[in-house]
Amino acid sequence: MIALLGATGYIGQAFAKVLSERTRAFTALSRKNLDYTRFDALVGFLRETKPEFLINLAGYTGKPNVDACETAQADTLAGNALLPQMIAEACAATNTPWGHISSGCIYSGAKVSVNGKISAEKDLTKPELRALLEKNPGAFHGFTENDAPNFCFRDLPCSFYSGSKAVGEEALVNAPQCYVWRLRIPFDEFDSPRNYLSKVQRYSKVYDNVNSISHRADYAQACLDLWELRAPFGIYNVTNPGFVTTRHVVTVLEKILKPQRKFEFWESDEEFYKVAAKTPRSNCIMDTTKLLAAGVKIRDVEAALEDSLKNWKPE
Ligand SMILES: NC(=O)c1ccc[n+]([C@@H]2O[C@H](COP(=O)([O-])OP(=O)(O)OC[C@H]3O[C@@H](n4cnc5c(N)ncnc54)[C@H](OP(=O)(O)O)[C@@H]3O)[C@@H](O)[C@H]2O)c1
Repeated sequence: MIALLGATGYIGQAFAKVLSERTRAFTALSRKNLDYTRFDALVGFLRETKPEFLINLAGYTGKPNVDACETAQADTLAGNALLPQMIAEACAATNTPWGHISSGCIYSGAKVSVNGKISAEKDLTKPELRALLEKNPGAFHGFTENDAPNFCFRDLPCSFYSGSKAVGEEALVNAPQCYVWRLRIPFDEFDSPRNYLSKVQRYSKVYDNVNSISHRADYAQACLDLWELRAPFGIYNVTNPGFVTTRHVVTVLEKILKPQRKFEFWESDEEFYKVAAKTPRSNCIMDTTKLLAAGVKIRDVEAALEDSLKNWKPE
């Protein structure tokens, strides 16, 4: 049996669905039936039921978006930094292997090669970088699992949410039998306030940037495959290989869904942050070489994006 903590959430529901499809036995825990945020309750559950594996899908994301974490800092730290640390202790005490849902939002930008020299660039909205991206997308490389986070409390600026996720990862550095699976901007074919493709369609104006993104079911499949394959424990970037600009997403969306509305874009970062957002947003490219080398099959971002839009299910 696999135990899911926080299975009621947006990502938790995807894991529950994939496990059902695979006919794998699982127990979906919610704080409503067992307060797994209490060490004694969690250890008691693990000792009694002895799951073969545990997945921590719980966390504090801020609703409707990460701006809410700026004013709920204690809850954000409790959900994203202290909870994973406590789960690590409980799993170590009961010899339970487990996986934790982290985020690529602890990075900003990409690694860019110019004249044979690679440098990390935090802001991919710079006009010279956008021009290079148009001309030579192959010059842009994602952050690997070995790169130190550059959008966190140790490397400011960052959002409080991103800072808390990076602290959560640090707490797990020496955790035995632990996967850290980094998710980035979930999307799929199911219209939802949490789906990136729904958000893009509903924003009054769209913020254009460059990102790696994760199809929700592909993400759950890939994480579970890592466990089924008994891939080495540790950190994995789990996105659909490649990256997209928001402008490209809008172009594909216009081609497939043919929406009535015309899309407008924020003129500049300055205008976006003055009007639409309070805290800095992470936009970044992730490297998926380690995931693929572990033997996980996951389609590239273009295929996942087109498929989601071709099978779009409006709410
Ligand atoms: N959605 C994204 O865009 C995104 C991107 C990257 C990473 N992530 C990470 O993925 C994980 C799951 O995110 P999600 O989008 O599925 O979040 P969600 O929809 O808000 O669900 C999270 C679940 O966590 C549980 N929980 C435990 N302690 C909590 C607390 N203090 N406050 C709120 N909920 C708490 C709740 O389940 P019960 O109360 O039923 O137990 C809740 O349903 C998080 O670690 C998040 O940081 C999400």
